[in-house]
Amino acid sequence: MKSVKAWRVGNMGDLQILPATRHRPPLKRPMWIIGLVSLVILFLVCAYIYPPHSRGACYMFSSRGCALTDWLPPVPVRELTDEEIASRVVIRDILNTPPVRSKNSKIAFLFLTPGPLPFEMLWDKFFHGHEGRFSVYVHASRDKPVHFSRYFINREIRSDQVVWGRISMVDAERRLLANALKDPDNQHFVLLSDSCVPLHDFDYVYNYLMYSNMSFIDCFEDPGPHGNGRYSEHMLPEVEIKDFRKGAQWFTMKRQHALIVMADSLYYSKFRDYCKHGVDGKNCIADEHYLPTFFHMIDPGGIANRSVTHVDWSERKWHPKSYKSHDISYELLKNITSVDTSEHVTSDDQDSAVAALPMEWYPTAMLLIRQEILPRYPQ
Ligand SMILES: *[C@@H]1O[C@H](CO)[C@@H](O)[C@H](O)[C@H]1NC(C)=O
Ligand SMILES: *[C@@H]1O[C@H](CO)[C@@H](O)[C@H](O)[C@H]1NC(C)=O
Ligand SMILES: *[C@@H]1O[C@H](CO)[C@@H](O)[C@H](O)[C@H]1NC(C)=O
Repeated sequence: MKSVKAWRVGNMGDLQILPATRHRPPLKRPMWIIGLVSLVILFLVCAYIYPPHSRGACYMFSSRGCALTDWLPPVPVRELTDEEIASRVVIRDILNTPPVRSKNSKIAFLFLTPGPLPFEMLWDKFFHGHEGRFSVYVHASRDKPVHFSRYFINREIRSDQVVWGRISMVDAERRLLANALKDPDNQHFVLLSDSCVPLHDFDYVYNYLMYSNMSFIDCFEDPGPHGNGRYSEHMLPEVEIKDFRKGAQWFTMKRQHALIVMADSLYYSKFRDYCKHGVDGKNCIADEHYLPTFFHMIDPGGIANRSVTHVDWSERKWHPKSYKSHDISYELLKNITSVDTSEHVTSDDQDSAVAALPMEWYPTAMLLIRQEILPRYPQ
């Protein structure tokens, strides 16, 4: 109390310099003290209830001064559900387990196709001479393809129907990952469509993926109708709109991330049930949102936020440009392999909604999508 009194006395002098108003006599002393003491008590009580959450303590009379925000109540942190806690501990442990580098590390090439693979013989040339460093898995959802390449024969997994834009597309991706995870040598997993062709040779692709410490999962925020406009509040509390992301489905994934996808049932079921056609009158497409949102939430620093597949959206249509045989030239391939930014087209403003993401790591695109996969699946 002594210091408070001294402080008060010291300030009394200043106070008396102020011109006193004629009609209101200055406050009487006892009132003044009571007012000051209650203020100090109120301040101390507030400080006790809302302790400062800046790193350095904020003392009442410190010369540093106190920012008002130091004393504001913290933003309430949501209490996690049992399922979220369970899911997060499993994910954290998988992420913290260093990858086992087997001597025969392989890349699993996962072909998601409705039927035959028109570029099978091109892939055959790509794989030739690199036996033991790759494995092939084929999910043919409509017609059983006849294979011509020995690398593709007997590599089909049990498949199921795939409908464009439905969760069955994600299910097929998970089925491919699960089958490929059975082989402990598979360290990196690449999802491909029947219209993908390689742009680089096997060694380049192998080194690019194997020695990168991340997964190439396309991930961006689209504030427009075909992005956040597809979000449904039924996904709460686990999936908030601030975490909702979009991205092309063509991923490459390191083994840890593939395991996490297998371990996830919580977030998967949210997208299965509420990211689909007809929820709240929206048309949510699970394969464009589930993995980007999931990885953005659980390991944002572990993904490149871009895909390694090249696709040409410059025509600004519903589907990317389809390359015809007369389009294919050495110059085109050279142009595509020297692309050093990855474009994200958002749906909020058709003229200015292209964001380019620099590719810091080996500045080249790896694969080429000849045409969009969409029209070939039942809708
Ligand atoms: C990957 O490696 C780069 C540099 O080599 C490093 O900056 C980055 O933090 C690493 N990321 C992860 C997820 O380990
Ligand atoms: C991807 O985006 C997240 C934020 O969403 C960021 O934390 C991360 O560093 C980005 N990854 C790369 C490789 O830039
Ligand atoms: C390749 O890129 C150059 C420079 O951007 C452009 O002028 C040319 O038309 C492109 N060629 C093809 C075949 O895309």
